[in-house]
Amino acid sequence: MEQDKTKKLLETGKSTYLPVYAQKEMILDYGKGARLWDLADKEYIDLGAGIAVSVLGHQNPELVQVATEQLGKLWHTSNIYFTEPAIQLASDLVDATFADRVFFSNSGAEANEAAIKLARKFASSHASSEKHEIITFEGSFHGRTLTTITATAQPKYQEGFGPLPEGFTYCPFNDFEAIEQKISDKTCAILLEPIQGEGGVHVARPGFLAHLQALCQKHEALLIFDEIQSGMGRTGRLLAYEWEENIQPDIVTVAKALGGGLPIGAMLATERVAQTMKVGDHGSTFGGNPVIAAVACAILKQVCSSALMDNVNKQSEKLQAALSDLKEQKQLFKEIRGRGLIVGAELQGAWEGRAADLSEVCLQHGLLILQAGPNVLRFLPPLNITDEELEEGLQRMKSALNHV
Ligand SMILES: Cc1ncc(COP(=O)(O)O)c(C=O)c1O
Repeated sequence: MEQDKTKKLLETGKSTYLPVYAQKEMILDYGKGARLWDLADKEYIDLGAGIAVSVLGHQNPELVQVATEQLGKLWHTSNIYFTEPAIQLASDLVDATFADRVFFSNSGAEANEAAIKLARKFASSHASSEKHEIITFEGSFHGRTLTTITATAQPKYQEGFGPLPEGFTYCPFNDFEAIEQKISDKTCAILLEPIQGEGGVHVARPGFLAHLQALCQKHEALLIFDEIQSGMGRTGRLLAYEWEENIQPDIVTVAKALGGGLPIGAMLATERVAQTMKVGDHGSTFGGNPVIAAVACAILKQVCSSALMDNVNKQSEKLQAALSDLKEQKQLFKEIRGRGLIVGAELQGAWEGRAADLSEVCLQHGLLILQAGPNVLRFLPPLNITDEELEEGLQRMKSALNHV
């Protein structure tokens, strides 16, 4: 009965959706903690958290309560009016980070669009419109709008969508010398992920962010971190750049985990930079929606707690140790890398380039994991994943890999 329903829904989904995704052959129905169930009641351990989003797991009781209360009060106002949850969230983000000002969007790409617009406006008002170039890095991912695919220095996301906006230039990631050659007085900003997520889980080398900061200061360019995947506690600190000392970004973007599964993004900026924007320069109808903002306040509080960050460190050690064991036993992985609960395992040998096949085998064994490109398995579990949930997930991965 449920199988017929699943089959029918899959057919309808495949024939009605724009064919831009390769969805798995099941229909997810409900979730609890780090577990999900499909319509046929098959259980999965979720080590992907909807791509770093379901940061406190599925159906987190506190978040359900906060959302339900706000749903019973007020859903939407637009930004013509203030609401209490959005003001609270903005001031909590300011208290918790380097930022003085916050702009709310609905997604990561929109938060990056806001950052790019702000950097351009800042340069044109403080220097000239000639100073409009933005440097991004090979292997990066910044979103799917026309401007953010242009910022994304990977041709596969850009092909067929030209003409692309002008003024972006690309540099190899973690290359101290190449960036010195690229930057000039025409550069208005450097934009990067402190840990590249989609591009294969590559962590900025020690000193790289400080090097970029010094170059930005020299050329009066802004330093922008895209922390849409790496931020909100994922690495064991609120923002991943905080692992390197004495770094002071001008702008940081967050999204994904900020809403825990409800759509919200935010661009955080210093007063000096933010003051460039005037009434009417930018906006969003839904940005800072009160229901999502109320949930985001509760999430931010948790993410700022040492209890949750201790769990990230503890589960990260376990996950990385288990992957390292598999690396030794099976010669499947070339390298395990990452920080906290953003972990990548690069494939080698017979499995090189077959991350999709391996994640499919894991799915068959009741485990959801992600890819980062064709050659890296990516793990982004909920930050509050329990010992039991992670152990069960790792057990399922071992049995899945015994079948390949
Ligand atoms: C680093 C980074 N930036 C931007 C985005 C785009 O976010 P969204 O899909 O919410 O627009 C993503 C999404 O995966 C991301 O990982």
